[in-house]
Amino acid sequence: MATVVVDQTELALQREYSYMNASYFVERGDARGYRFTYYVRTYGCQLNESDSEKLKGILNGMSLTSSHSEDADILIFNTCSIRENAQDRLFGNLGLVKAMKKKNPDMVVAVCGCMMKQDDNVQKIRQSYPFVDIIFGPADIHRLPELLHTYLFNQKKVYQVSQTDYIVDDLDIPIDRMRRFRALVPINYGCDNFCTYCIVPYTRGRERSRPFDLIMQEIHDLASTGYKEIMLLGQNVNSYGKDLDDKPRFVDLLKAAANVKNIEVLRFMTSHPKDLSDEVIEVMADYPVIETHLHLPLQSGSNHILQEMNRHYTREQYIRTAKRFRERVPNGTVSTDIIVGFPGESESDFLDTLSVMEEIRFDFAYTFIYSIRQGTPAATMDNQIPQEVVSERFSRLLALQNEHAFASNQSVCGKYERVLIEGRSETAPSILTGRTHSNRLVNFNIPINSIMPDGHALREDEEIDGSLFEGELAEIFIQRARPYSVEGRLERFVHDGR
Ligand code: 5AD
Ligand code: SF4
Repeated sequence: MATVVVDQTELALQREYSYMNASYFVERGDARGYRFTYYVRTYGCQLNESDSEKLKGILNGMSLTSSHSEDADILIFNTCSIRENAQDRLFGNLGLVKAMKKKNPDMVVAVCGCMMKQDDNVQKIRQSYPFVDIIFGPADIHRLPELLHTYLFNQKKVYQVSQTDYIVDDLDIPIDRMRRFRALVPINYGCDNFCTYCIVPYTRGRERSRPFDLIMQEIHDLASTGYKEIMLLGQNVNSYGKDLDDKPRFVDLLKAAANVKNIEVLRFMTSHPKDLSDEVIEVMADYPVIETHLHLPLQSGSNHILQEMNRHYTREQYIRTAKRFRERVPNGTVSTDIIVGFPGESESDFLDTLSVMEEIRFDFAYTFIYSIRQGTPAATMDNQIPQEVVSERFSRLLALQNEHAFASNQSVCGKYERVLIEGRSETAPSILTGRTHSNRLVNFNIPINSIMPDGHALREDEEIDGSLFEGELAEIFIQRARPYSVEGRLERFVHDGR
């Protein structure tokens, strides 16, 4: 697979297509007294979220308006292939689109993202979901104007999944960020680690880093336009820069970003245990703006399984790194990813995973049942674990993790925590939600008479508009622990970091 840097000539061409599409939508819309709309549905990780923010920016540039539901004129599914259930969800949702398209024959349905890198998925869509008009790959995002133009003006389906690893340093189109306060900043794309269970190196291609200066420019711009939280993203942020000529290091990027003024929180993910240096931990300890949270995927606690997974570290090395973080960043949190039921996992391998969990006591964890990914080395290993065994292990793992997470959350009860507010809780409108500096999820209420950010006291009959508080800082008194969050009440809003 070749790696190609997309140049300004190519981007200028895409802009031309974008103008032509915009005229198409505006003319047709004007004739009906209407504006064409779009909706992008995202599956999977924050890198996909970030790609969708770029897609939305491109769609805005074509004079389309964002819709709140899938009942839009341009509907794009940005897919994830990390596990079977993400794929199943796509097919479930696609099934519902047929009826929408019948109602609105002008509707354009596109599917993009990681799943499209696997030909069997593309074939399945072409055969079983023929109403899908455009298919494109994760490296083809910058070409959306051209693909849409081909579809609109030639009235024929477009299937474009590049095998090239494109590098688009700067799309030159405003990104439509999902959150007003949080900016996702990819620093490197792709992955070269080839963990044997993982599809990402095949869907996302070779590791490629964005230039240091471009990343820093983006962070400065974000800070000066009011973004409070910067999240550096990559499949393996610690290997940032290895592919660039001047070999910039992640630790230097982290330091430079931490020195940018007016940011409240600097987060980063994901770190690979084999590459996370002590130096990065020192920088985390030294710079208060960096979150006091480390996401460090363990995957398995068994040395034998780690080797079969091609992870390049031992349980002992993992424990040492996690403990070093705990020592250097007191009151910090450690989270992890764990896979249960990797081929060949014996009861004793599984007990090794539980014992690392006992030793580190993860504050939170994403736990997964191993999912066969065709094309990866683990898919053809002959010692796959029966489903009943995996399910039984998974429930033991979950029970232990819930115990640890609950105890971790209990440890902050009765304390005051600084929280960056994300908005209203989805389940209870009078409850706001946010995260602590250590990435703990906090749900809280605002007592009557609390002084609001604009200076007025909250009235009894006043409805709380969560979106007004997005990005505000508040001090919260933590009252109760839950396994996945804590609950509290507002003490006060905090202005300008004071
Ligand atoms: N099955 C189950 N979990 C997986 N992950 C990656 N590939 C698989 C798979 N085939 C998990 C890993 C990774 C996280 C993002 O998804 O734990 O860290
Ligand atoms: Fe997948 Fe391993 Fe790369 Fe993570 S480091 S994306 S688990 S191959």
